This record gives sequence, C-alpha cells and structure tokens, in this order.
Amino acid sequence: MLSYRHGFHAGNFADVLKHSIVSLIIQALKQKDKPFVYIDTHAGAGKYQLQSEFAQKTAEYQQGIARLWQANSIPEAARDYLAVVRAENTAQLLRYPGSPQLVRRLIRNQDRMQLSELHSTDFSSLQQLFAGDKSVSVAKEDGLQTLLKKLPPIQRRGLVLIDPSYEVKADYRKVIDSLIKAYQHFANGCYALWYPVIDRQVTETMLQRLADSGIRRQLRIEHCVKADGAVRGMTGSGMLLINPPWPLEEQANSLLPWLNQLLTDNQGHWQIVWQVPE
Ligand SMILES: C[S@@+](CC[C@H](N)C(=O)[O-])C[C@H]1O[C@@H](n2cnc3c(N)ncnc32)[C@H](O)[C@@H]1O
Repeated sequence: MLSYRHGFHAGNFADVLKHSIVSLIIQALKQKDKPFVYIDTHAGAGKYQLQSEFAQKTAEYQQGIARLWQANSIPEAARDYLAVVRAENTAQLLRYPGSPQLVRRLIRNQDRMQLSELHSTDFSSLQQLFAGDKSVSVAKEDGLQTLLKKLPPIQRRGLVLIDPSYEVKADYRKVIDSLIKAYQHFANGCYALWYPVIDRQVTETMLQRLADSGIRRQLRIEHCVKADGAVRGMTGSGMLLINPPWPLEEQANSLLPWLNQLLTDNQGHWQIVWQVPE
C-alpha cells in the first residue's frame, strides 16, 4: 500500500531543485519547433495547496519555495520556474505547481504529456486537474511498468521524469533497472531521475549501477542542505540526467550557488559532475 503523499513535501528544497531543472530542460526542448512528449512516471496530485492541513503540518515549503518567493534578484536559470509559481499565485504564496502543472504551463500546442500516478486520491486530483485537456493523458498505473510501452514516443523527442517516493529500499534497484531498459528503447530521449540523499551509501550504490550500465552522457546535479547524516531523514537531493540539453551544465552552474545561498545561507553544498561523459 502506498503511504507517501507529496502534499506533505510540496515546494520543499528538493522540489525546488527538481522543478527548476525540469523547467530548463523543457525550455531547451522548445528551441526546436518539432513537438515533444513529457512523460512523468510518478506524477503526484499535479498541484498543491500550501495552506492545506498536509502542507502546514510539515511546512517544508517554508524552507524551500517560500525563500525563493521573496528573492529580489533572480538568475536567468530560475526565471521560467518562478514565472510558473507566480502564475499559480497572486500576492501571496498559497499554491505550488507539482511537476505536471509546471510542465503544462510551459509546453506548446504541439507538445504532449503522459502522466502516471498510482495513489487513488492523488490520481483523482490529477485527473480532475487535466479533465478535457487534449494535450495531457492521465493514467492510474505503475509508471515504471508501463514506461516501456510508451517508448520510443511517436514524436521521437522528449523528457522522461522518474520521480519515485523511494518508500521501500527495493525502489532504488527498480528505478535503475527500468531506466536502463527504457534507454534501450529510446536512446535519444532525455531522462531525469530524482534521488534523495538519506543514506549516502545507498545513493552512491544506486548511481554507480547506472554509471556502470554503459549509458553515456550522465550529468549529476545535487544539492545538499545539510552535511550527510547530520539529521535523520533527507539531507539533500539530486537529479541524474541522461542526455541533458547542452546549456544545462552552465545553467546549473549559475543556479546552484544561488539556491545554496537562499536555501541554506551558504551552509549547504552542491555538485555538478559528469558521472559519465560523452
Ligand atoms: C515524489 S511524488 C511525485 C511528485 C511529482 N513528480 C512532482 O514533482 O510534483 C511520487 C508519487 O509517485 C506515486 N507512486 C509511487 N509508486 C508509483 C508507481 N509505481 N507508479 C506511479 N506512481 C507511483 C506516489 O503515490 C506519489 O504521488
């Protein structure tokens, strides 16, 4: 049974990193007129109310998007992401776009989205959010199991976001197995795997399996708000990207110091490294 609900965590420091990187990839895909597809294997509820009982219980967004919301100067690399967050709100920060709503606001008429979500309540919210929207298909399904059936997409270009909740240890193995198989079906695609840093050893073992897979062009972008093991739970998170668009490394180099300053007063640390180069 699934117990994870993203509503508790929406807009936290990990969402900020994930969603700003996703925005940059979508921006790069839009450089060509040709349509693309966005596949979100673990879509969540789509968007979140920050005043809800869920969000207020942990108030994680206060240490995440709320700090960016107040920022005076915004680097180019965070513009699209923050423009969407602003579009979801008026004067006050009350709502937060999850990855589906973020991407929906960024894609064009010719682009498509395919969203999978297993949790009944979050699936219903997602279905309601995109009801009647011809650009978006929503399915209550195991996003990893059904991924292969969607590849290669008819557009032959696109982004696959894999954003599991890692509720069980087996997830760390399962996502890598699925990613390797997906790549065999669609080697030109861009893939973004979100991962937490909770137990450093577990994270490194997972990423090493992918590094050893033979897949080239693996860029790792990670931001830790605390030292490894400093507290129980998540101290950082990252995005492992396969085939990232070319400007992304440079954009991340301007984004990460800014995020680190705003989110941790420069007490955190980050890395942007080619885990496997060209
Ligand atoms: C981290 S949340 C997703 C957040 C979302 N991608 C975002 O950025 O706004 C992970 C979601 O995956 C769902 N989930 C867990 N296992 C799944 C699976 N095998 N297939 C599809 N969804 C799954 C959970 O119910 C949860 O809503």
